Amino acid sequence: MDLDQLNQTIAKIEADVAASLTDLTAVDAVRGLDTSVLGKKGTLGSLISGIKDYPPDQRGQVGQTINAAKGRVKELINQRLAGLQSAADAAEASSAGAYDPTLPGLRLPMGSVHPVTAVQWEIERIFERLGFTVESGPEMETEYNNFEALNIPATHPARDMQDTFWVKNGMVLRTHTSPVQHRSMKKFGAPLRVIVPGRCFRYETIDASHENTFHQVEGLMIDRDISIPNLIAMSQTLLTEVMQREVKLRVRPGFFPFVEPGLEIDMNCQICDGKGCPTCKKSGWIEILPCGMVHPNVLTAGGIDPEEYTGFAFGLGLTRLAMMKFGIRDIRVLNAGDLRALVPPERLGGPILS
Ligand code: PHE
Repeated sequence: MDLDQLNQTIAKIEADVAASLTDLTAVDAVRGLDTSVLGKKGTLGSLISGIKDYPPDQRGQVGQTINAAKGRVKELINQRLAGLQSAADAAEASSAGAYDPTLPGLRLPMGSVHPVTAVQWEIERIFERLGFTVESGPEMETEYNNFEALNIPATHPARDMQDTFWVKNGMVLRTHTSPVQHRSMKKFGAPLRVIVPGRCFRYETIDASHENTFHQVEGLMIDRDISIPNLIAMSQTLLTEVMQREVKLRVRPGFFPFVEPGLEIDMNCQICDGKGCPTCKKSGWIEILPCGMVHPNVLTAGGIDPEEYTGFAFGLGLTRLAMMKFGIRDIRVLNAGDLRALVPPERLGGPILS
């Protein structure tokens, strides 16, 4: 076989392989070509053994020609195998995986949540039922929103009540969630029912009952004829539902520039049941709900006519309430990132999971 004949033979074998591959639909039959064409005794493979019949100076080229052809055939076989595989995959997917939109979804197991989150969710549920919406505001606030709009001018001694983290750009880390009172009045006008869970910051020395970073839930209800009995009734409902037991409340006068009159609503200490312990500083009571009737200046600053509307506002100590609910005696646990402090789903209570 001279070189021309060799080339023709090879071309013919390649053409045959290409033609037969289109007919072969069984993977095993395609794999069979590995032996019948490429194998030592195969149509192409066996040509190698003829190399020795060529003059020495042609043998190298003959070998290369045959091997190149073997490479091309191998490639054809592999392509065909890949084609058959993806056709098989598609067929399986369409017969087995017909999509049934009526099947129930998978219920993923719920993880544990932070005690503050757990109580926050509960409070949101309670207030949503009462027609309140849940709002939020920025943790870094303007001085105006945090103080002035709340009837606390720069010269007012009440600024000293809350030790403030000042940010270099003249902003503050909000010392309470009350600035969102002003934001909500501006945004929605009256009548208005909002709660605002959120993180607050104060320049405090940290100990078992003080943190520089803690949570409050602001509440604001503005309408015609809102009065203190509404506020007290709401407090009783809220605290009883969160604690899931009867709680005792005590109402004292309190001072906050943005309410008039201002009140402090205390709850009997849930850790010692009112007997007196380090958490309640032996008083048996926990300050939980500072509140009052919205000051006319605050309504005016928010664009609401104090002649027409009245309202109450409160700043629930969410962190403190979470400590009461879950019997946590040291506030530092809450910001420590300790996974042992998390609340497992079964302790969240049924309604939250639904
Ligand atoms: N913002 C007050 C505080 O953090 C609490 C408060 C809110 C009091 C709303 C009255 C009304 O101390």
